Amino acid sequence: MKDNIITIDGPSASGKGTLARNIADFLGFEILDSGLLYRVYAFLFESGLKHSQIPASIKNDVSFKSDKEGIVVLNKNIDITAKLRDESTAIAASKISSLAETRENLLTIQRNFYSPAGLVADGRDMGTVVFPDAKLKIFLIASPEIRAKRRQLELQNRGQEVNMHALIEDIKQRDLKDQTRELSPLVPADDSVLIDSSDMSPEEVLSFTKKLAKKEFNK
Ligand code: C5P
Repeated sequence: MKDNIITIDGPSASGKGTLARNIADFLGFEILDSGLLYRVYAFLFESGLKHSQIPASIKNDVSFKSDKEGIVVLNKNIDITAKLRDESTAIAASKISSLAETRENLLTIQRNFYSPAGLVADGRDMGTVVFPDAKLKIFLIASPEIRAKRRQLELQNRGQEVNMHALIEDIKQRDLKDQTRELSPLVPADDSVLIDSSDMSPEEVLSFTKKLAKKEFNK
C-alpha cells in the first residue's frame, strides 16, 4: 500500500517546489518535480524527437541529481538545467502538456518515482490523476502578482532581467491554459487542503504543512 505520498499541486510560482523540498527533507521522503519532467519532455520534443521516442530517451539519456541548489538534469551527460528553467521552455511545456500523448507518456514515468521511503510529488494533477490515493494532498495558491514577484526574484538571481507586466500576463495566461484544458486540468482534488500563501512566508507554509504531515504520518 503506497500510503506514504504527499501531493502538492497548484499554479506556477505558488511555492510548490520550496515546500516540496522542505517537507521531503523533514520526512526523509523522495521528490518528484513533475513540472520539470514536462519541461524535459518539451526540451526533447523541441530537439526533434517524436512523442513515441521520448519515454525511452527519458529512461536512457536523462538523469536527475539533487544538489544543494535543487535538482540538476543531465541529458546525455550535458547539464540542461538552465535551459529547462527558461521561460521559453516553460511556455513550450505548457503547450505540449495539453496533449493526450504527452500526459499518457509521462504517467508511468511519474508513478515510477515512487519510493518505499515515501514521496512528495509536486505539479498540477498529482492529487487528482497521478497519485489519487495519496494520504496528504495540498493545493497551494497565491495571487498572480505575488507569484510574478517571486518569479522575478528567481530570474534576477540567475542574472536575467524581466518585465514585471509581461511576467504577470504570462502567469495569468498559463493559469488559464492549465485550468481550462480538457485533460488533467489544474483543479484541487476534493480531499485536498487549500493553502493560500499570498501573505505567508515559506517558513509559515512549511510549519503549517508539517503539522498536517505529523498527524497523517505519525512523525
Ligand atoms: O511547474 P512548472 O512551471 O515547471 O511546469 C511547466 C508546465 O508543465 C506547466 O505550465 C504545466 O502546463 C505543465 N505541467 C502539467 N502537469 C504537471 C506539471 C506541469 O501540465 N503535473
